[in-house]
Amino acid sequence: MASFVAVVGAIWFILPAYLANASPVVLGGGLPMDFGHHFIDKRRLFGDGKTWRGFYGGILVGILVGALQGYLYPHIALDSPVNDLTMTAYILRAVLLSFGAGVGDLTGSFIKRRINLKRGAPFPIVDQIGFLVLAFLFAVLRFEVPTVYVLILLPLTLFAHLGANIFAYLAGMKDVWY
Ligand code: CTP
Ligand code: MG
Repeated sequence: MASFVAVVGAIWFILPAYLANASPVVLGGGLPMDFGHHFIDKRRLFGDGKTWRGFYGGILVGILVGALQGYLYPHIALDSPVNDLTMTAYILRAVLLSFGAGVGDLTGSFIKRRINLKRGAPFPIVDQIGFLVLAFLFAVLRFEVPTVYVLILLPLTLFAHLGANIFAYLAGMKDVWY
């Protein structure tokens, strides 16, 4: 079992990616990233669910979260060597995490369109953790990403999504529980 300290450290580590992934729902809209273009299979490259505003908005939010974390870290009792970074490093790591999250989300939509899933159709696992995998891959280019963080965050993110969806379903905000 991972320690409570490791779980808190892991969540603190991934916060920029989480917020970057969640904000396009609110900030998105306008010009689609594929400009309406189709792939060689005659289906949309990404579809109307991926817009430039959502992409850049997510990255911007992620970077702001990283900057806020860099400011807060010296003032809180979070004893986490992996998260003991300078402000500049916090911002750089947030850039990588947020950009990775955005590219991961985009990759997921690209795959969904190739297997003929319409915009918004559920694609289990990829929908929930696609952004996370790419966020890890970008972050590890320059920063330490402990294996234990990856092992904590993959299932945690999967279940957090599921929990949020069930809650939204019970609250009448969604038609399906998944
Ligand atoms: N969104 C956006 N730009 C992005 C990512 C998301 O504008 N780069 C907005 C869109 O309004 C999208 C919503 O956030 O509908 C939810 O995102 P997501 O679930 O990733 O997209 P889906 O609509 O489900 O499309 P897809 O099937 O391609 O995943
Ligand atoms: Mg979706």
